[in-house]
Amino acid sequence: MKCMSDRLGKPVDAITVSDEELQSLTNAIFQRHGIDFTCYERLSLKRRVIRALGVFNVDSVHALWRLILHDRAFIYTFMDEISVGLTAMFRDPVLWRKLLSMLNNYFTKRDGLTVWHAGCSSGEEIYTFGIVLQESKFDKPVMAWATDISRQAIDQAQRGGYHTQKFSEYEQNYKEFNPFGSLKKYSSTGEGLLQMNSNLIRHVSFDYHNLITDLFPVNQDIIFCRNVMIYFDSGAKLKLLKKFHDSLKPGGLLVIGFYDAVMPLIDPHQFGVLDIEAKIFIKR
Ligand SMILES: C[S@@+](CC[C@H](N)C(=O)[O-])C[C@H]1O[C@@H](n2cnc3c(N)ncnc32)[C@H](O)[C@@H]1O
Repeated sequence: MKCMSDRLGKPVDAITVSDEELQSLTNAIFQRHGIDFTCYERLSLKRRVIRALGVFNVDSVHALWRLILHDRAFIYTFMDEISVGLTAMFRDPVLWRKLLSMLNNYFTKRDGLTVWHAGCSSGEEIYTFGIVLQESKFDKPVMAWATDISRQAIDQAQRGGYHTQKFSEYEQNYKEFNPFGSLKKYSSTGEGLLQMNSNLIRHVSFDYHNLITDLFPVNQDIIFCRNVMIYFDSGAKLKLLKKFHDSLKPGGLLVIGFYDAVMPLIDPHQFGVLDIEAKIFIKR
């Protein structure tokens, strides 16, 4: 049986996208919307674009680009399609290695930590940080707030159950963080579910929160806002960066995504670069 796209029934295995087409599409989106795909893993991005062509019932990258060009709001629908599933446990292992080292050194003098996962999606980032905390020497109280505009995503994050098919990808990411451990220590499997241990999120409270319209918390030590700002235009990104700055304690950290095109917008008087590879910024 042919594999059909979810909504419109176009057979996805009948669609192909060349490297050149992918490149010109991502360049054009970057020029028009400032959304940066340059760091996306090529094959997985190509798979998502092919899937999107089927979902939007268009048969070429050119037709997709016409949709993006003629309907300014369509980029958000497209990004939903592209970004869905682009979260993962221990995504960007270098970041988590860096944070482990900071928990063991930089933060040791703090009495505790307040952490905000802004745009937490289905929660993989939260469980990841929970594991990093457990593997660190940091033993002070940690309180985290995990928010998103997708209630469905928040529900899944709270349940902490993922498709077992994800296990090998997540385990591979985890091994890049800690070659000597295994995610099995933090999860159980059964009935097609990889169930994360609930003690990893004992310190977390979950809420609906819209980054564009809702109030921000204060006195945060770490704010994760990874791969969320890719949705926003430069004006919104600038406002967000200012609000994140106000939200952090002096010396607090802002962690952004590898694909967020905000580097040129960051005010060096507000944030210093702590680690460019891991995309960690420090409030001045
Ligand atoms: C690609 S996921 C990022 C997940 C995770 N932070 C990561 O990097 O793996 C982007 C998330 O941003 C959320 N989002 C989009 N617009 C938002 C907004 N205005 N306020 C809060 N969250 C938003 C989406 O619902 C989605 O769950």
